[in-house]
Amino acid sequence: MFNALNPMPADPILGLMAQFREDPRTDKVDLGVGVYKDPEGHTPILACVKTAERIRTETETTKVYISPAGSPEFNRLICELAFGADHSAVLSNRIRSVSTPGGTGSLRVAADFIKRCNPDAVVWVSDPTWANHLSIFKAAGLEVNHYPYYDTENNALRFDAMLDKLKTLGKNDVVLLHACCHNPTGEDLTPAQWDQVVAVAQERGFTPLLDMAYQGFGESLEQDAYGVRKMAAAVDAMLLCDSCSKNFGLYRERIGACAVVAKDSNAATVAQSVMLHVVRSNYSMPPAHGAALVETILASQELTAQWHDELKVMRDRINGNRAMLVERIKAQGVTRDFSFIARQKGMFSFLGISPEQVALLKSEHGVYMVDSSRMSIAGITEANVDYLAAAIAKVL
Ligand code: LMR
Repeated sequence: MFNALNPMPADPILGLMAQFREDPRTDKVDLGVGVYKDPEGHTPILACVKTAERIRTETETTKVYISPAGSPEFNRLICELAFGADHSAVLSNRIRSVSTPGGTGSLRVAADFIKRCNPDAVVWVSDPTWANHLSIFKAAGLEVNHYPYYDTENNALRFDAMLDKLKTLGKNDVVLLHACCHNPTGEDLTPAQWDQVVAVAQERGFTPLLDMAYQGFGESLEQDAYGVRKMAAAVDAMLLCDSCSKNFGLYRERIGACAVVAKDSNAATVAQSVMLHVVRSNYSMPPAHGAALVETILASQELTAQWHDELKVMRDRINGNRAMLVERIKAQGVTRDFSFIARQKGMFSFLGISPEQVALLKSEHGVYMVDSSRMSIAGITEANVDYLAAAIAKVL
């Protein structure tokens, strides 16, 4: 049975984690996987999460199965966080949400759900996008194509080309848009650009799928959800894939949500029933622990305020790192302009060097980033930034 198997290459992102761990150099720098790190290079458990865990331990009375949809209260709260409690789609009860094992689980539920809605649907992702997007949608048997997004020569959005492409799509198409903190480029749509994309979605009738893995890491919880809210108010079919991995720091707990926005409450109920069928035949029901923590935090004013503060610290640190890296590269005498890194948002930016230069950074200097030159900005610290800037200057 297994004799015909060929070994698969390591995942381009997760594989880096193992390589980094095994590297004995003490001055190595990890800009690989997208996890937040504090100034000491640790990925902490948020204080609000620690408190929620204590509350959970004291109050949890059973480990009996939950339903395939997960906790209804988590689903309600996470929906309000994404769409806003007073959003017209929330008030008219045309959204249904299910808890999922992380953002990846949410995307896979969405992919299987799309396949059930329309086996011939074509999924359009940005060029470039998170590598796993391609694997997830292809694994569900869907065709995946790219729309233009990022100009690597000029480090800018290819907005006109993107819009031109979207204007050619229609009812059979699903367009995956990063709600904020575009992974891997850090280049986001402005509110005015979102307005144009929403108008094209309305006009052409394609189904938008918004992936919001970093709400609160860009500008703020509210501003980062601009596209999600605008789109949900305008179209009668949309999907949202949400993740609590980054903004609650719950990476390994695997908690996210998949929301379907339909034309009315009845259509939303039908859509959810199909989604639950997809869940049951896939993993039966989501893990409960992470959802319970998020629910405990969002249900408490005090813990929510603390979470907002902790999220701001993470966001500000990443933005500070962006400015610091640009300045320290310049201080190495490099004349090439890297100021776009300070302007971009979220966990990632492309440094804009070749795969050969990326390989040199790793072999000669112990600096780890994805082959595309995607850097996880949170891995920069006061202690490693000069070493990093000097290494970059050398490979340039
Ligand atoms: C990343 O892009 O580094 C993260 O989303 C982690 C992952 O699963 O790839």
